[in-house]
Amino acid sequence: MSNNKFINAVISEEQGDESLPILRGTMGPEAVDIRALYSRYDLLAFDPGFRSTASCKSSITYVDGDKGVLLYRGYPIEELAEKAHYLEVAYLLMFGELPEDDELNVMRESINQYGILHEQVMSFYRGFRRDAHPMAVMVGVVGALSAFYHDHLNIGDRSQRIQAAIRLVAKMPMIAATCYTYNIGRPHRYPVNKLDYSSNFLQMMFGSPAEEYQVDPVLARAMDKILILHADHEQNASTSTVRIAASSGANPFACISTGIASLWGPAHGGANEAVLRMLEEIGDVKNIPKAIARAKDKDDSYRLMGFGHRVYKNFDPRAKVIQKSAKEVLEHLQLDDPLLDIAMRLEEIALEDEYFIERKLYPNVDFYSGILLRAMGFPDSMFTAIFALARTSGWVSHWLELQEDSTHGIDRPRQLYVGKPLRHFPKDR
Ligand code: SDX
Repeated sequence: MSNNKFINAVISEEQGDESLPILRGTMGPEAVDIRALYSRYDLLAFDPGFRSTASCKSSITYVDGDKGVLLYRGYPIEELAEKAHYLEVAYLLMFGELPEDDELNVMRESINQYGILHEQVMSFYRGFRRDAHPMAVMVGVVGALSAFYHDHLNIGDRSQRIQAAIRLVAKMPMIAATCYTYNIGRPHRYPVNKLDYSSNFLQMMFGSPAEEYQVDPVLARAMDKILILHADHEQNASTSTVRIAASSGANPFACISTGIASLWGPAHGGANEAVLRMLEEIGDVKNIPKAIARAKDKDDSYRLMGFGHRVYKNFDPRAKVIQKSAKEVLEHLQLDDPLLDIAMRLEEIALEDEYFIERKLYPNVDFYSGILLRAMGFPDSMFTAIFALARTSGWVSHWLELQEDSTHGIDRPRQLYVGKPLRHFPKDR
């Protein structure tokens, strides 16, 4: 971390150099405040993909990619995954502190109150083909919630903002579970308020109308960890999408549906589904060298799904927790998944390979999550939907934080224009 408060930038020979202020946060890289570059010198900063850009100030999540550190409001992800429950973590992300017992009880009562979907929302599902991908359904259904709350939602009122945020966290389990039950032709189920958040989601997913659902505490705890690990991750693609939509003052339900759309991509939240397809395609440990050779081949677009990260250039701390959870659940269920053996061997071989070492490519959160989710009985198509369920608490926390920042205004990136210069329509045309 430099000791300077300013950085000297040579703007042009005529104008000499200009001091640009350096902004310092609590931790992590400092930032050069470049706003004067455009306002005073008509100069833009060029940073496609925003790899070197701080788009905002945030106090929610801190990621140190070099050290493999992930903190939610200062608490290490490993400690939260081990000791906290998802609703506690959702509260922490939204409000900045772990809840006291009475605060958690109020949150639980709100979740119970808002957890059931409006019966008319259920009719949206019937508009989809039975085999529609759950993420396509979730984008539609969550966006449609805007129509149910748009009129009496004043986002200028903090209490209404918080109510909308909790409504979204409350409704996502039934929205996600109904994507699955609709797909397999089973009647949708409603939340059972005596159950905790994760157990409720599992009973809505796997419960049968013909018998009472028995919660398996090991699976419920594994579900809670999966939700905690995926709850937030700083300014990732989907969270940045939510923030950009939110900056225009759009309805929070519409903003979260933009986050679901962005998360769906295989380079982002869609990777967990793609990892399993990759492992199945490898099929046997003996085929790993071929897969690694393809991943290294510049002429082949093939990549090791679940490997690499925009920010982590070390182990993704979440991957280690998920790997441990996957082993526990497989042992508990007495399942033997050959894909886990392939995944662990693939990790071992890749991490000894110069190509991956040089590029600091390590397993990320998606590398083992598919194995764990499949062991729990989820179909591959639901993996990213579960990621969206978990990430909703992070998305709404960033939405709340942005609404509190009166200096932010609407996001409006510029561009380096490389198109045609001015020209006029041909007279003879
Ligand atoms: C998530 O941002 C977040 O926080 C996301 C997330 C969250 O919680 O929100 O953490 C969740 O999205 C995790 C990432 C899931 N995606 C995947 O697992 C897909 C596979 N990974 C890659 O597509 C890739 O690693 C990215 C997209 C994740 C990151 O890409 P980068 O950092 O932009 O890397 P790059 O494209 O600049 O590549 C750098 C080099 C290149 O080789 P060279 O041109 O230098 O020779 O590394 C290579 C790449 O070809 N590379 C890979 C690779 N990832 C990067 N080579 C093989 N396999 C890979 N997976």
